[in-house]
Order: sequence, then C-alpha cells, then structure tokens
Amino acid sequence: MKVLVVGSGGREHALVEALAASPLEPEMYAAPGNPGIARIAQTVDIPVDDLVSLRDYAANNGIDLTVVGPETPLIGGISEAFWEADLKVFGPSRAAARIEGSKVFAKELMRHAGVPTARFEAFDTEAAALAYLRAHSDYPVVVKADGAAAGKGVTVASSRDEAEEAVRASFGGKFGAAGERLVIEECLEGREASVFVVTDGQDILPFLPAQDYKRAYDGDEGPNTGGMGSYSPIMWMEPATYAAILEDIIRPTIHQLALIGAPYTGLLYAGVMVTETGPKALEFNCRFGDPETQVILPRLGSDLLELMVTAGNEDLAGREVVWSADKAVCVVLASEGYPESSSSGDEISGLENIPAGVYVYHAATEEREGRFYTAGGRVLNVVGTGPTIIEARARAYAAVEQIHFEGMHYRTDIALEAIELEDL
Ligand code: AMP
Ligand code: GLY
Repeated sequence: MKVLVVGSGGREHALVEALAASPLEPEMYAAPGNPGIARIAQTVDIPVDDLVSLRDYAANNGIDLTVVGPETPLIGGISEAFWEADLKVFGPSRAAARIEGSKVFAKELMRHAGVPTARFEAFDTEAAALAYLRAHSDYPVVVKADGAAAGKGVTVASSRDEAEEAVRASFGGKFGAAGERLVIEECLEGREASVFVVTDGQDILPFLPAQDYKRAYDGDEGPNTGGMGSYSPIMWMEPATYAAILEDIIRPTIHQLALIGAPYTGLLYAGVMVTETGPKALEFNCRFGDPETQVILPRLGSDLLELMVTAGNEDLAGREVVWSADKAVCVVLASEGYPESSSSGDEISGLENIPAGVYVYHAATEEREGRFYTAGGRVLNVVGTGPTIIEARARAYAAVEQIHFEGMHYRTDIALEAIELEDL
C-alpha cells in the first residue's frame, strides 16, 4: 500500500511516523515533506497548494491513500480533485472544510445546530460593524476575520477603541479577501482545549484531548504564535466535560454538516473553552492540530492507517481507539525573531543520540551534506513521553538542552501546570 502525506511541518512528520508504523507496512511518500520526514518517506517536491500536480502524482504513482496535513489545500478543494480522479483522500470536501475556511459559516452552522458557543453577530461592511460596536457596552469582545488568516485574524479587544481598530484593519485589507467579512463575538473565559475526532460523516472516533500553548513566552505572555508547545492527556478535564464536548459540540456539528449536504469526512478539530457554564466551541479546524498531533500520535496504540482506511469506507461504527498509558509533552524550538520574523540557515547541533522515549519532529529545517540548518520560525518539536507528565516533561527538556542553534528560544513552562495537577 502506498500512502502520501501532504505537508511539511512537525505535524506531518508525526503523521508520517505513525502511518509508517502500521502493520500494513505502507510505502510512505510526502509532498513536499522535510529533512526529518525524508528519513522515513520518499519526499516529492510539490507544494501543498498545487492541487493538480498532487493529484497527477498520486494517479501516476499508484498512491492508495493521501492524508492532507494543512488546511489550505482542503479549503481549496483537494479532496474533490482527488475523488474526481477516483483517488482516496483522508480529509473533508471543500464544502465541509468551510467550517475552518469561514468563521461566519461556522458560527451560523453552530447556531442552527444548537451548539454552545459565544454569542455573535456577522458583518459584511465596516460601517455596520462600527455601528454595532458603538451601541455595544460590554467589553472585551472578540473580532474575527471571516476567512483563513494564518492564525492572525482573531483579536481579543479589551476596549471599544481596540475593537474598532481591528474592524478597520480587517476591512482595510490587512487579511486580504479573508477580512472582507467578520464576526464580532462575546469573549469567553475559561480553559482552552483541543479535541480531535476522526469521522466518516456519521460516526465518530474520539481522540484524547490535548493542551496547546499559543503565546510566545512563559506565563502566556507575548504575541500569539502557531503554537509553542503542547501536552496530552489533559488532567484538568473531567470525563463528564469531555463527554459533553462530544455530545453537545462535535456530534451536532457533524450531523448539521450532513443535513446541509456537506458531510464531513476526515479529522475534525474542535477548539473549546471550558467555562463555568460548560464547554463552548471557539472554533473548528478541518485538520489535525499542530503541535497537538505531536503529543497525540506517539500515544496512539491503534493503527492510524487502518483507522483512516476504515473512516474512508464509512465503517467506523463500533470502533474504538486504544491509547498507551504514557503521557507526552512537546516543546517547540523557535528561531531568532519568531513570531514577528524568523531566521534561517543556522546550523543545528545535538540531533544525534536522541534518547529512547523522545521524538524530535522537524518543522522547519534544511539538510545540506548531512548537516541540518534552520529554515523558518518553528524549527523543531521535541516530544518527551513517559508514564507521568513529570517524566515526559523531564525527558523533553533534557533533550532540548542537548540541541542547539544560534538564536534558539523556547518556553520553559510547557506542562508545568499539569505536574501540579498530577500531584493532587
Ligand atoms: P480561533 O482561531 O477562533 O481559535 O481564535 C484563536 C484564539 O483566540 C483562540 O484559541 C482563543 O485563545 C482566542 N479566542 C477566540 N475566540 C474567543 C472567544 N470568544 N473568547 C475568548 N477567546 C477567544
Ligand atoms: N494548535 C492550533 C492549530 O493547529 O490551529
């Protein structure tokens, strides 16, 4: 069996590794992949948004299943392109991927499905949004550009001035077409978590929840990033809360998508806020989370490839996922300047002799003559595993100490709160 993974980050490295471990013994391919992935898969130099070339490659090389990492190709319709050519793909249709591609679509879908979420209004002119803010007295509010804005389209505005500035920036073209509509919503308070399920459009196979860290610096200070670390499982989440997320947020959303003729297949990611009045949906993503995938897949005891094939055959009913008892902690090593800018071309040392129980996923690296160099903002993801969070965390940070490149920075408080909870 030949399997192609589309993407080039740490998430895709973790996906390739988990798929390669399948007893089905797949031949692994990745487009475009990265130097870490290249050690376990054949890499193919096709960018993730060149849907025609990806489809032709899969057709001409007998690829049996394509697994799509990032959202851009899914929102752009890669699944339809493949299905039309009679090729199998793990990922939703363009119509279903709107759940990530359009905040207005996602919020209206949630409203129709009765999914608990922040109260909201949608706007397609600057004047209407500003008029709403003038009449609104309850701050903070959250301003969200409608379309995909590389994680930068959300502003939690603590005052009317800040909210007005975000509205003007969005309609002024800051996010291009993605900002021509927006959502203004109630600001929720609570703890955030990421919940993933695999679905065939009807049945779901829940994965364990994970915590990610979006801010750049310790103590949740500094600007938002693509993610500076993660851990799993989440000890603070009660089983009843997790069950409520599945029953009140995920199932009705999947049901509603099927009702409107856009059945969702693949992996659905719900970003939730656990508030005093229960869990509420913050957002949906149409793909695996990054860096949550890096702490979830090393703990998966089931065969990921077989689960994906089963989902494609709409045969998930009655299936369960097996998990290892281990915990996992991921620390992201970033290059100088990240997230405002990034630095490239610095040599990375210390990647040899990584101890057992630690996984180093490449996120933005380059290999030249057997040496590794930085090639972007989030360079490496160092994942420690172990029977407790304390051990998993100690393993991750010990490996981090061993790795070096000029300007390397990372958060030192990943999973610290989890240790305190583990002690209870
Ligand atoms: P989103 O892309 O919708 O997940 O938003 C990015 C981040 O903004 C989330 O992970 C939250 O930290 C924050 N956020 C989004 N919506 C809200 C909300 N209604 N209340 C509070 N924080 C929010
Ligand atoms: N971890 C956040 C994301 O994947 O969008």
